[in-house]
Amino acid sequence: MVKTYEGFSSLENNFTSEMLEDLFAPGEVIWKKKFGNDVSILKPGDICDAEYLKKFWDRNAELNVLSKASPKNISKGHQLFLSLSEVHDVSDKNSLRSEIITWGNQLFWDDKCDCSILDLVLASYRAFYNIDKQTEANLIQSSRLLFKRSALVGSLVTYLATAIGYTDFKFLQDLYHTCFLLDYSIDNEQMSSELIEALLKEQEASGEGVRTLSKDSSVEVFIQHPRASFDLALADCAGFINQPQTLRLIKSHHEKIDSSGFPKQLNSRELSDIEALMIFVSNFVTVEHLNYTESDGAGFIKNILGENSPKMKSILSQRLIGLISKTLDNLTAGHEKYQEVVGI
Ligand SMILES: [Fe+2]
Repeated sequence: MVKTYEGFSSLENNFTSEMLEDLFAPGEVIWKKKFGNDVSILKPGDICDAEYLKKFWDRNAELNVLSKASPKNISKGHQLFLSLSEVHDVSDKNSLRSEIITWGNQLFWDDKCDCSILDLVLASYRAFYNIDKQTEANLIQSSRLLFKRSALVGSLVTYLATAIGYTDFKFLQDLYHTCFLLDYSIDNEQMSSELIEALLKEQEASGEGVRTLSKDSSVEVFIQHPRASFDLALADCAGFINQPQTLRLIKSHHEKIDSSGFPKQLNSRELSDIEALMIFVSNFVTVEHLNYTESDGAGFIKNILGENSPKMKSILSQRLIGLISKTLDNLTAGHEKYQEVVGI
Protein backbone atom coordinates (compact mmCIF):
# COMPACT_ATOMS: atom_id res chain seq x y z
CA MET A 1 0.00 0.00 0.00
CA VAL A 2 1.33 3.42 -0.92
CA LYS A 3 1.13 5.96 1.89
CA THR A 4 1.44 9.65 1.20
CA TYR A 5 1.86 12.71 3.32
CA GLU A 6 -1.21 14.90 3.32
CA GLY A 7 -0.90 17.99 1.17
CA PHE A 8 2.41 16.74 -0.03
CA SER A 9 1.85 15.81 -3.63
CA SER A 10 3.69 18.80 -5.00
CA LEU A 11 6.50 20.87 -3.58
CA GLU A 12 5.42 23.84 -5.65
CA ASN A 13 3.12 25.01 -2.90
CA ASN A 14 4.83 23.24 -0.07
CA PHE A 15 8.40 24.41 -0.16
CA THR A 16 8.54 24.82 3.61
CA SER A 17 6.65 21.61 4.11
CA GLU A 18 7.25 18.89 6.66
CA MET A 19 9.56 17.20 4.21
CA LEU A 20 12.04 20.04 4.25
CA GLU A 21 11.88 20.40 7.99
CA ASP A 22 13.00 16.81 8.34
CA LEU A 23 16.48 16.30 6.99
CA PHE A 24 15.65 12.75 5.89
CA ALA A 25 13.11 11.87 3.22
CA PRO A 26 10.01 10.05 4.52
CA GLY A 27 9.83 8.06 1.30
CA GLU A 28 10.86 7.98 -2.30
CA VAL A 29 10.75 11.41 -3.93
CA ILE A 30 9.79 11.32 -7.57
CA TRP A 31 10.15 14.07 -10.11
CA LYS A 32 7.15 13.92 -12.39
CA LYS A 33 8.48 15.33 -15.62
CA LYS A 34 6.08 17.01 -18.00
CA PHE A 35 7.56 14.97 -20.81
CA GLY A 36 9.36 11.67 -20.47
CA ASN A 37 9.63 9.17 -17.65
CA ASP A 38 9.33 9.96 -13.96
CA VAL A 39 12.67 10.22 -12.21
CA SER A 40 13.40 9.06 -8.68
CA ILE A 41 15.50 11.79 -7.07
CA LEU A 42 15.61 10.60 -3.46
CA LYS A 43 15.28 7.19 -1.82
CA PRO A 44 13.57 6.78 1.58
CA GLY A 45 15.77 8.13 4.37
CA ASP A 46 18.03 10.04 1.98
CA ILE A 47 19.19 13.49 3.01
CA CYS A 48 16.78 16.03 1.54
CA ASP A 49 18.69 19.24 2.09
CA ALA A 50 17.03 22.38 0.78
CA GLU A 51 20.00 23.17 -1.46
CA TYR A 52 19.45 19.98 -3.42
CA LEU A 53 15.67 20.34 -3.67
CA LYS A 54 15.92 24.01 -4.63
CA LYS A 55 17.15 22.99 -8.08
CA PHE A 56 13.81 21.30 -8.68
CA TRP A 57 11.84 24.08 -7.03
CA ASP A 58 13.49 26.66 -9.29
CA ARG A 59 12.29 24.70 -12.29
CA ASN A 60 8.74 24.46 -10.90
CA ALA A 61 9.18 20.71 -10.97
CA GLU A 62 6.35 18.59 -9.62
CA LEU A 63 7.66 16.28 -6.93
CA ASN A 64 5.69 13.44 -5.39
CA VAL A 65 6.51 11.50 -2.27
CA LEU A 66 5.73 7.82 -1.96
CA SER A 67 6.01 7.69 1.79
CA LYS A 68 7.31 4.65 3.64
CA ALA A 69 6.85 6.37 6.99
CA SER A 70 3.78 7.01 9.11
CA PRO A 71 3.22 10.62 10.25
CA LYS A 72 1.16 9.28 13.17
CA ASN A 73 3.92 6.98 14.44
CA ILE A 74 6.58 9.64 13.97
CA SER A 75 4.56 12.25 15.78
CA LYS A 76 3.85 9.94 18.73
CA GLY A 77 7.48 8.86 19.09
CA HIS A 78 8.70 12.44 18.75
CA GLN A 79 6.33 13.64 21.46
CA LEU A 80 7.29 10.79 23.82
CA PHE A 81 11.05 11.33 23.47
CA LEU A 82 10.64 15.07 23.83
CA SER A 83 8.57 14.63 26.97
CA LEU A 84 11.68 13.17 28.63
CA SER A 85 13.07 16.70 28.60
CA GLU A 86 10.04 18.01 30.46
CA VAL A 87 9.76 15.59 33.39
CA HIS A 88 12.19 15.51 36.27
CA ASP A 89 10.62 13.24 38.84
CA VAL A 90 12.09 9.70 38.72
CA SER A 91 8.70 7.97 38.80
CA ASP A 92 7.41 10.24 35.99
CA LYS A 93 10.48 9.37 33.95
CA ASN A 94 9.95 5.66 34.57
CA SER A 95 6.31 5.97 33.45
CA LEU A 96 7.39 7.80 30.34
CA ARG A 97 10.05 5.20 29.66
CA SER A 98 7.36 2.50 29.85
CA GLU A 99 5.28 4.46 27.35
CA ILE A 100 8.25 4.75 25.00
CA ILE A 101 8.93 1.03 25.25
CA THR A 102 5.25 0.28 24.64
CA TRP A 103 5.27 2.53 21.56
CA GLY A 104 8.49 0.99 20.26
CA ASN A 105 7.42 -2.55 21.09
CA GLN A 106 4.19 -2.29 19.15
CA LEU A 107 6.07 -1.04 16.12
CA PHE A 108 9.51 -2.62 16.13
CA TRP A 109 9.43 -5.65 18.44
CA ASP A 110 6.07 -7.11 17.50
CA ASP A 111 6.41 -8.61 14.04
CA LYS A 112 2.75 -8.07 13.16
CA CYS A 113 2.83 -4.31 12.73
CA ASP A 114 3.04 -2.87 9.23
CA CYS A 115 5.48 -0.03 9.69
CA SER A 116 8.92 1.18 8.70
CA ILE A 117 11.98 1.54 10.92
CA LEU A 118 12.11 4.98 9.28
CA ASP A 119 9.38 5.95 11.79
CA LEU A 120 11.95 5.52 14.58
CA VAL A 121 14.60 7.37 12.56
CA LEU A 122 12.35 10.39 11.97
CA ALA A 123 10.88 10.44 15.49
CA SER A 124 14.40 10.44 16.98
CA TYR A 125 15.60 13.04 14.49
CA ARG A 126 12.78 15.40 15.44
CA ALA A 127 13.29 14.89 19.17
CA PHE A 128 17.08 14.98 19.41
CA TYR A 129 18.77 16.45 16.34
CA ASN A 130 20.51 19.77 16.97
CA ILE A 131 23.76 19.67 14.97
CA ASP A 132 24.85 23.12 13.84
CA LYS A 133 24.66 23.93 10.12
CA GLN A 134 28.43 24.09 9.58
CA THR A 135 29.14 20.70 11.16
CA GLU A 136 26.13 19.27 9.36
CA ALA A 137 27.42 20.55 6.03
CA ASN A 138 30.89 19.09 6.71
CA LEU A 139 29.47 15.70 7.61
CA ILE A 140 27.14 15.58 4.60
CA GLN A 141 29.84 16.74 2.23
CA SER A 142 32.20 14.02 3.45
CA SER A 143 29.80 11.15 3.00
CA ARG A 144 26.05 11.32 2.46
CA LEU A 145 25.89 7.57 2.95
CA LEU A 146 27.57 7.61 6.37
CA PHE A 147 25.38 10.53 7.43
CA LYS A 148 22.23 8.68 6.39
CA ARG A 149 23.50 5.62 8.24
CA SER A 150 24.22 7.66 11.38
CA ALA A 151 20.55 8.63 11.60
CA LEU A 152 19.58 4.95 11.90
CA VAL A 153 22.46 4.10 14.26
CA GLY A 154 21.59 7.09 16.45
CA SER A 155 17.91 6.24 16.64
CA LEU A 156 18.56 2.60 17.55
CA VAL A 157 21.19 3.46 20.17
CA THR A 158 18.96 6.01 21.90
CA TYR A 159 15.92 3.74 21.85
CA LEU A 160 17.86 0.76 23.25
CA ALA A 161 19.56 2.98 25.82
CA THR A 162 16.12 4.13 26.96
CA ALA A 163 15.06 0.50 27.17
CA ILE A 164 17.95 -0.43 29.49
CA GLY A 165 17.24 2.50 31.80
CA TYR A 166 18.73 5.75 30.50
CA THR A 167 16.08 8.43 30.65
CA ASP A 168 18.03 11.67 30.97
CA PHE A 169 17.08 13.65 27.86
CA LYS A 170 20.37 15.52 27.60
CA PHE A 171 22.35 12.32 27.82
CA LEU A 172 20.17 10.61 25.20
CA GLN A 173 20.56 13.62 22.94
CA ASP A 174 24.35 13.46 23.33
CA LEU A 175 24.25 9.74 22.62
CA TYR A 176 22.28 10.42 19.44
CA HIS A 177 24.70 13.12 18.27
CA THR A 178 27.74 11.02 19.14
CA CYS A 179 26.58 8.48 16.57
CA PHE A 180 27.06 11.13 13.87
CA LEU A 181 30.61 11.83 15.07
CA LEU A 182 32.09 8.33 15.34
CA ASP A 183 34.21 8.80 12.23
CA TYR A 184 34.52 12.56 12.47
CA SER A 185 38.29 12.74 11.89
CA ILE A 186 37.95 10.77 8.67
CA ASP A 187 35.05 12.97 7.63
CA ASN A 188 36.90 16.17 8.29
CA GLU A 189 40.57 15.65 7.64
CA GLN A 190 41.31 12.34 6.03
CA MET A 191 38.27 12.01 3.88
CA SER A 192 38.86 9.45 1.19
CA SER A 193 36.65 6.93 -0.50
CA GLU A 194 39.18 4.23 0.44
CA LEU A 195 38.80 4.93 4.16
CA ILE A 196 35.03 5.12 4.00
CA GLU A 197 34.99 1.83 2.10
CA ALA A 198 37.16 0.37 4.88
CA LEU A 199 34.69 1.60 7.50
CA LEU A 200 31.84 -0.17 5.75
CA LYS A 201 33.92 -3.36 5.31
CA GLU A 202 34.87 -3.33 8.98
CA GLN A 203 31.17 -3.53 9.84
CA GLU A 204 30.80 -6.69 7.76
CA ALA A 205 33.62 -8.52 9.51
CA SER A 206 36.17 -7.58 12.14
CA GLY A 207 39.56 -6.81 10.57
CA GLU A 208 38.16 -6.71 7.04
CA GLY A 209 38.35 -2.91 6.86
CA VAL A 210 42.05 -2.82 7.72
CA ARG A 211 42.78 -5.52 5.14
CA THR A 212 41.28 -3.45 2.32
CA LEU A 213 43.65 -0.54 2.95
CA SER A 214 46.74 -0.52 0.79
CA LYS A 215 49.05 2.06 2.37
CA ASP A 216 50.61 1.90 5.83
CA SER A 217 49.68 5.52 6.36
CA SER A 218 46.01 4.78 5.63
CA VAL A 219 46.03 1.84 8.03
CA GLU A 220 47.45 4.05 10.78
CA VAL A 221 44.83 6.76 10.16
CA PHE A 222 42.13 4.10 10.19
CA ILE A 223 43.32 2.44 13.41
CA GLN A 224 43.69 5.78 15.15
CA HIS A 225 40.44 7.34 13.92
CA PRO A 226 38.43 6.59 17.11
CA ARG A 227 40.89 8.63 19.20
CA ALA A 228 41.36 11.33 16.54
CA SER A 229 37.59 11.64 16.07
CA PHE A 230 37.11 12.02 19.81
CA ASP A 231 39.75 14.78 20.02
CA LEU A 232 38.31 16.64 17.06
CA ALA A 233 34.68 16.30 18.14
CA LEU A 234 35.61 17.53 21.61
CA ALA A 235 37.19 20.64 20.07
CA ASP A 236 34.49 21.34 17.47
CA CYS A 237 31.15 20.27 18.88
CA ALA A 238 30.72 22.08 22.19
CA GLY A 239 27.81 24.01 20.67
CA PHE A 240 25.46 21.06 20.46
CA ILE A 241 26.86 18.55 22.98
CA ASN A 242 25.38 18.89 26.48
CA GLN A 243 27.92 16.81 28.38
CA PRO A 244 31.26 16.52 26.54
CA GLN A 245 32.25 13.38 28.46
CA THR A 246 29.66 11.45 26.44
CA LEU A 247 31.92 11.89 23.43
CA ARG A 248 34.34 9.44 25.05
CA LEU A 249 32.15 6.73 23.57
CA ILE A 250 33.74 7.57 20.21
CA LYS A 251 37.07 6.21 21.42
CA SER A 252 35.74 2.70 21.87
CA HIS A 253 33.37 2.33 18.93
CA HIS A 254 35.60 -0.22 17.15
CA GLU A 255 36.44 -2.28 20.24
CA LYS A 256 34.93 -5.76 20.61
CA ILE A 257 33.95 -7.64 23.75
CA ASP A 258 36.33 -10.48 22.78
CA SER A 259 39.19 -7.92 22.57
CA SER A 260 39.56 -8.33 18.80
CA GLY A 261 38.77 -4.67 18.17
CA PHE A 262 40.94 -1.58 18.00
CA PRO A 263 42.75 0.60 18.92
CA LYS A 264 43.12 -0.72 22.50
CA GLN A 265 41.81 -4.30 22.26
CA LEU A 266 39.55 -3.78 25.25
CA ASN A 267 37.51 -6.75 26.50
CA SER A 268 33.97 -7.02 27.81
CA ARG A 269 35.04 -6.36 31.41
CA GLU A 270 36.66 -3.10 30.34
CA LEU A 271 33.62 -1.84 28.42
CA SER A 272 30.55 -0.30 30.03
CA ASP A 273 27.04 -1.34 28.97
CA ILE A 274 26.55 1.86 27.05
CA GLU A 275 29.90 1.44 25.24
CA ALA A 276 28.95 -2.12 24.37
CA LEU A 277 25.57 -0.93 23.12
CA MET A 278 27.18 1.71 20.90
CA ILE A 279 29.66 -0.86 19.52
CA PHE A 280 26.88 -3.34 18.88
CA VAL A 281 24.59 -0.98 16.98
CA SER A 282 27.35 0.77 15.02
CA ASN A 283 28.60 -2.64 13.90
CA PHE A 284 25.17 -4.00 13.19
CA VAL A 285 23.77 -1.38 10.83
CA THR A 286 24.85 -2.05 7.26
CA VAL A 287 24.08 -0.31 3.99
CA GLU A 288 21.35 -2.89 3.32
CA HIS A 289 19.43 -1.67 6.36
CA LEU A 290 19.11 1.73 4.68
CA ASN A 291 16.78 0.43 1.95
CA TYR A 292 13.75 1.43 3.98
CA THR A 293 10.43 -0.20 3.10
CA GLU A 294 6.93 0.35 4.48
CA SER A 295 7.11 -2.86 6.51
CA ASP A 296 10.78 -3.27 7.48
CA GLY A 297 10.08 -2.05 11.02
CA ALA A 298 8.06 -5.12 11.97
CA GLY A 299 10.17 -7.19 14.36
CA PHE A 300 13.26 -5.15 13.45
CA ILE A 301 14.60 -4.74 16.98
CA LYS A 302 13.70 -8.25 18.05
CA ASN A 303 15.53 -9.57 15.01
CA ILE A 304 18.72 -7.62 15.56
CA LEU A 305 19.17 -9.34 18.90
CA GLY A 306 18.58 -12.76 17.44
CA GLU A 307 19.75 -12.90 13.87
CA ASN A 308 23.37 -13.64 12.94
CA SER A 309 23.78 -14.81 16.50
CA PRO A 310 27.49 -15.78 16.24
CA LYS A 311 28.31 -12.28 15.07
CA MET A 312 26.06 -10.73 17.69
CA LYS A 313 27.65 -12.79 20.43
CA SER A 314 31.07 -11.48 19.48
CA ILE A 315 29.82 -7.90 19.76
CA LEU A 316 27.20 -7.75 22.46
CA SER A 317 27.49 -9.59 25.74
CA GLN A 318 24.84 -12.16 26.56
CA ARG A 319 24.12 -10.13 29.66
CA LEU A 320 23.21 -7.07 27.61
CA ILE A 321 21.24 -9.08 25.05
CA GLY A 322 19.33 -10.60 27.96
CA LEU A 323 18.76 -7.23 29.58
CA ILE A 324 17.37 -5.66 26.41
CA SER A 325 15.33 -8.70 25.42
CA LYS A 326 13.82 -9.12 28.85
CA THR A 327 12.92 -5.45 29.08
CA LEU A 328 11.36 -5.25 25.66
CA ASP A 329 9.74 -8.66 25.73
CA ASN A 330 8.05 -8.19 29.05
CA LEU A 331 6.99 -4.66 29.84
CA THR A 332 5.95 -5.45 33.35
CA ALA A 333 9.14 -7.23 34.36
CA GLY A 334 11.12 -5.25 36.84
CA HIS A 335 11.18 -1.76 35.40
CA GLU A 336 11.98 -0.51 38.85
CA LYS A 337 15.19 -2.49 38.87
CA TYR A 338 16.80 -0.28 36.28
CA GLN A 339 17.21 3.08 37.85
CA GLU A 340 18.15 6.06 35.81
CA VAL A 341 21.89 6.34 35.22
CA VAL A 342 23.16 9.69 34.11
CA GLY A 343 26.47 9.83 32.25
CA ILE A 344 28.79 6.91 31.66
FE1 LIG B 1 34.68 4.16 12.90
